[in-house]
Amino acid sequence: MVTKSMGGGWTTRTGFILAAIGAAIGLGNIWRFPYMVYENGGGAFLVPYFLALFLIGIPMMMLELGVGGKTGATTPLAIKKTVRESEFLGWWAAINGFIVLTYYIVILGWALSYLGYSFTLAWGREPNLFFGQFLGSYYPLIAMLIVWAINFIIVRAGVEDGLEKTNKFFVPALWIIVIMMVVGSLTLEGASSGLRWYLKPDFSSLLDPNIWMNACGQVFFSLSLAFGTMITYASYQPKNSDVAKNASIIALANCGFSLLAGFAIFSTLGHMSFVSGMPITDLIEEGTALAFITFPAVLNILPFSIIFSILFFILLIFAGLSSSVSLLETTAGPIIEKFNMSREKTVLILTLVGCLMSLPFALSAGNIGFVDEIVSTYGLPLIGFAEVMIFGWVYGANKLRSYINEVSDFKIGRWWTWMIKIVIPVVLGYGILGNILKQPGLVIVLVIILAAILASINSRFS
Ligand code: ALA
Repeated sequence: MVTKSMGGGWTTRTGFILAAIGAAIGLGNIWRFPYMVYENGGGAFLVPYFLALFLIGIPMMMLELGVGGKTGATTPLAIKKTVRESEFLGWWAAINGFIVLTYYIVILGWALSYLGYSFTLAWGREPNLFFGQFLGSYYPLIAMLIVWAINFIIVRAGVEDGLEKTNKFFVPALWIIVIMMVVGSLTLEGASSGLRWYLKPDFSSLLDPNIWMNACGQVFFSLSLAFGTMITYASYQPKNSDVAKNASIIALANCGFSLLAGFAIFSTLGHMSFVSGMPITDLIEEGTALAFITFPAVLNILPFSIIFSILFFILLIFAGLSSSVSLLETTAGPIIEKFNMSREKTVLILTLVGCLMSLPFALSAGNIGFVDEIVSTYGLPLIGFAEVMIFGWVYGANKLRSYINEVSDFKIGRWWTWMIKIVIPVVLGYGILGNILKQPGLVIVLVIILAAILASINSRFS
C-alpha cells in the first residue's frame, strides 16, 4: 500500500489521468512515431499501428491498470501478489524501462540544447553538419546532466508534490502547443502532399512481420505499456478506482496526440518537399535524426521560423519530461516499496547510476538507434507477451475482468478475455517469431521467457 512516506498517491482522478497521459505522451509521439511512420513506408504503418492500438494497446492498458488498482502495489510486487513466481517480470520491465530512460534523457538533452539554438536558428544552412559538431562537443553531456537533475528534483518530491503537480502543467500545455503547430503547418504550401503520404493506407503491409513488430513496439512504447509504469501509477490511486474508462481515455488521448503531431510534422515535410523539389522519401537520411536534422532544415524555410522552432522544442521537452519522470518513478517505486528505502536515497542512487549509463550516449559512443531497437522494438513486445501469458493463463483473465467490472464506470465483455488470452499472444507471437528468423539471438530470450512461464504454471498447479 502506498504511504505518505513513500511519496503519497494521486489526490484526484484527474490527477492520475493527467499523469498517465503525461507518461504516455512523450518523445515516442514526436520523435519516434514520425520516424517509425517514415521508415515503414508512410501510410503503410498506420494500418498495423491502429490495429495494434485497438487489439493490443487498449486491452493491455486495462490489464495493467487493473493489476495496479487491484493490488495497490508497484509492478514487481503487484505481479508477486497475483502470481507469486513471476515477480521477475516486474523487475525485468522496470530495468528495461530504466535502460530506455538512459538514452531518453540524452535525447531530451539534445532538445533542450536545440531550444537554446532556436532563438537564433543556430544550425544555419547545414543542420546535418551542425548536428554532427554538436554531438562531438560537450554540450550533450552538460544538457544530459541538467535533464537528470530536473528528473531527480521532480521524482524526489514524490507522487503528489512532484509527479502530479508537474503533469497538471505539462499535459494541458502539450495540447495547446501541438494544436498551434498543426494549425500553423496546415496552412503551408505543399502541406497536402505530405499529408497524403502520411495518411494513405497500404493494406499489404499487414503481412509483413517486421512492420507488425514495429507497430506493436511503437504502441507499447508510446502507451508506456510493458515498462511497468501503468501498473505502478495505477497502484497510487485510492482503492476501487475505475479501470476501463480511465484506460480508454489514456490510450485514445495518447494516440490522438501522435496523430496530431504527425499532421504537424508531415505537412511541414510536405512543404519542404514543395520548396526543395525533392520527394518526401528523400528528405530524411536517418530516422532517429528526424527531429534534429530534417526538422531544423524545414524550420529554416518556414514563415515565423523562430516561433515554430521554439514551440517544437518546447513540445519535445515537455512531452519528454512528463515521460522521463514516469520511467524514473517506475524504477524507484518498486525499490522504495520492496527494500523499504527512503525515496530521497533511492532517487539519488538511481540518478547517479543513470548519469553513468547515459554517458556513452551523451558522448556519442553508444548507438541509440540500436539500443532502442533492442529494448523497445523487441524488449517491450516480449515483456508484453510474458504479461498476457501470465495474467491471461496463469492468474486468469476472467478473474481480472471480474475485478475490472466491479470497479469500472462501464463493463467489459468476454471479448477482453479472448484478447488477452488468444489474440494478443498470437499477434505478438507472429511479430516475434517473424523477427526471430532474422535475429537468432531472440530465440534464447524467448526460450528463457517460456521456461519461466512454464515454471510458474507448473508450480501453481502441481
Ligand atoms: N510513452 C513514452 C513515450 O512515448 C515513453 O515517449
